[in-house]
Amino acid sequence: MTHGPSEPSAWVRRFAGRIPAGGAVLDLAAGGGRHARLLLGLGHRVTAVDRDVAGLADLQTHPAATILAADLENDRPWPLGDRSFAGVVVTNYLHRPLLPVIVAAVAPGGCLIYETFAVGNERLGKPSNPDFLLRPGELLEAVRGRLVVLAYENLEVAEPRPAVVQRIAAVATPWVDSSRDSA
Ligand SMILES: C[S@@+](CC[C@H](N)C(=O)[O-])C[C@H]1O[C@@H](n2cnc3c(N)ncnc32)[C@H](O)[C@@H]1O
Repeated sequence: MTHGPSEPSAWVRRFAGRIPAGGAVLDLAAGGGRHARLLLGLGHRVTAVDRDVAGLADLQTHPAATILAADLENDRPWPLGDRSFAGVVVTNYLHRPLLPVIVAAVAPGGCLIYETFAVGNERLGKPSNPDFLLRPGELLEAVRGRLVVLAYENLEVAEPRPAVVQRIAAVATPWVDSSRDSA
């Protein structure tokens, strides 16, 4: 089974250093584990979740890795309970109902790194289903009042293949009161 690119995303590499050292990291819809592997290499404990964990088999015995087979959709309960993480990484995956849960899973001081396909990608290839394409500003809306944005882009990229992507890096800073929405 193929899980897409095997090299870590440049966006994840760029912001991985914003995840507090040694903190626990969630790699959601981890696929073949390209980011789980990067983050393990950086000294993090990593929980990698996917409904298909075949691509993560070699990490099952890694002392700092937890591999969780779970369906994140179809009205299944969130498999991580109320756990929060110093880093949450999501790439090339979108299930809109999870966006608030993903943001809430970022621990105080922690960092969200999210990158996936956006509207406009349908001109270039898959995914083309609007359910899997972020709308303009959607990741900004998802973190508004919850996380502080370090960087955000919505653009066409050439590598690893032509695509329209939206991506964000945002941190849970102590001065953002996540119990309230901003005006
Ligand atoms: C395009 S791959 C991205 C993998 C990885 N994040 C990456 O960028 O290399 C999408 C992943 O989402 C997983 N996925 C799709 N639907 C899922 C679901 N309902 N529950 C859990 N994982 C799911 C797939 O198994 C696949 O590994």
